[in-house]
Amino acid sequence: MKLPYAEPYRIKMTEAIRTSTREEREEWIRQARYNLFKLRSEQVFIDLLTDSGTGSMSDRQWGAMMTGDESYAGASSYYRLRETVRRIFGFEYFLPTHQGRAAENVLFTALVKAGDIIPGNSHFDTTKGHIEYRRAVALDCTVDQAADTQLELPFKGNIDCAKLERALEAHPAEKIPFVCLTVTNNTAGGQPVSMENIRQTSLLCRRYGVPLLLDSARFAENAYFIKTREEGYADRSIKEIVREMYSYADLMTISAKKDGVVNMGGFTAMRDKELFDRASVFNIMFEGYVTYGGMSGRDMEALAVGLDENTEFEQLDARIRQVALLGRLLDQYGIPYQRPAGGHAIFVDARRVLPNVPREEFPAQTLGVELYLEAGIRGVEIGAILADRDPETRLNRYPKLELLRLAIPRRTYTDNHIAVIAAACKNIYDRRESIVRGYKITYEAPIMRHFTVELEKL
Ligand code: F0G
Repeated sequence: MKLPYAEPYRIKMTEAIRTSTREEREEWIRQARYNLFKLRSEQVFIDLLTDSGTGSMSDRQWGAMMTGDESYAGASSYYRLRETVRRIFGFEYFLPTHQGRAAENVLFTALVKAGDIIPGNSHFDTTKGHIEYRRAVALDCTVDQAADTQLELPFKGNIDCAKLERALEAHPAEKIPFVCLTVTNNTAGGQPVSMENIRQTSLLCRRYGVPLLLDSARFAENAYFIKTREEGYADRSIKEIVREMYSYADLMTISAKKDGVVNMGGFTAMRDKELFDRASVFNIMFEGYVTYGGMSGRDMEALAVGLDENTEFEQLDARIRQVALLGRLLDQYGIPYQRPAGGHAIFVDARRVLPNVPREEFPAQTLGVELYLEAGIRGVEIGAILADRDPETRLNRYPKLELLRLAIPRRTYTDNHIAVIAAACKNIYDRRESIVRGYKITYEAPIMRHFTVELEKL
């Protein structure tokens, strides 16, 4: 008999989590003003809010933390991480920051000015926030197919090169500080970008004299999909694929909390010494001295090991199989989600699951609250609340997709938890006709409102 699959690790430490009653959850979510971010983590049984900073580190990473050099300047931990960044990504210069958005802040302060245009494939919300805060425009050039959740395509995260070229054509190069390619494309459903697409994007960028930035939170998962889905890459190692991906780029920002498998950390990296010198000043102002930025020595040690380990096929395979398992269970129950299953999460298609909830009443948020009430599972809305208002008209922006993201932390939950998540989704799907009303906003911040929004049940 063929032996079944099993993970390439065993578990050395556990953390207790507890279930609650529906009555308790009704009270807690009411107190949280129906915003899942405002729940306390003890009020959550299975936390799928994010895969960011929520993974389990390996024994080697924990061991490396003990060797952290906490010197203010010139720490050996910095040099170890710099060597790893050079080896894995091939970038000469890097600046550590406390997380991804801090890397964006440092780099964009050096590069982005009012009136600029930054084309990309569904910019992540903090990326868009940092662009719009500087009165520049985040221009979404994602392929149209990404908006059809039921289309089964291998690289639905791609940028549409025709749209990109139109943008490059329409604006002078000095108005486009860079093109931002997010790998994998988080907002479009954890969907990967093909090597061919990265290459084509890079060619276009070079032709128009515009640098290419890779927003790299889930770069290793993207490389996994290139290996398993793109012709010509099956026999290449993840590390080789990553090196090729980055050979086409000039800049990167990364939230290391995802594919770096650490709880906190990030960096920006580049080839250009002059830009590095300019950005260093902002790193010192916003984050910390050049050789630690926002990270302690022990965090840089853990990240150096994490980057190395998580660019090995077996680690990525275990993770992506678990996400795919959730997708398969939802398939069994007929529940629509962004197909095919993505890298870090399943994105449930809330408008199809709750067709009776009007768009103005936030179907994805409604589904998120339902799932919490059903089983204490916390997902996150990727829909109209997250999309914010248009900075000019101040009208609500209604994106093409209303998704409930169920992000799977790395090496944190077992397949039994996955079965609970799928069953809870099925229970809601079975009573979908009876869910007809959603929520209205009673408080919102002017930008990135989803973190602090307060809602009232209609
Ligand atoms: N870019 C992408 C593609 C991201 O997914 C994130 C964070 C960031 C940048 C910002 O990084 O959180 O370290 O400051 N995404 C998390 C998520 C928060 O839940 O998807 P950060």
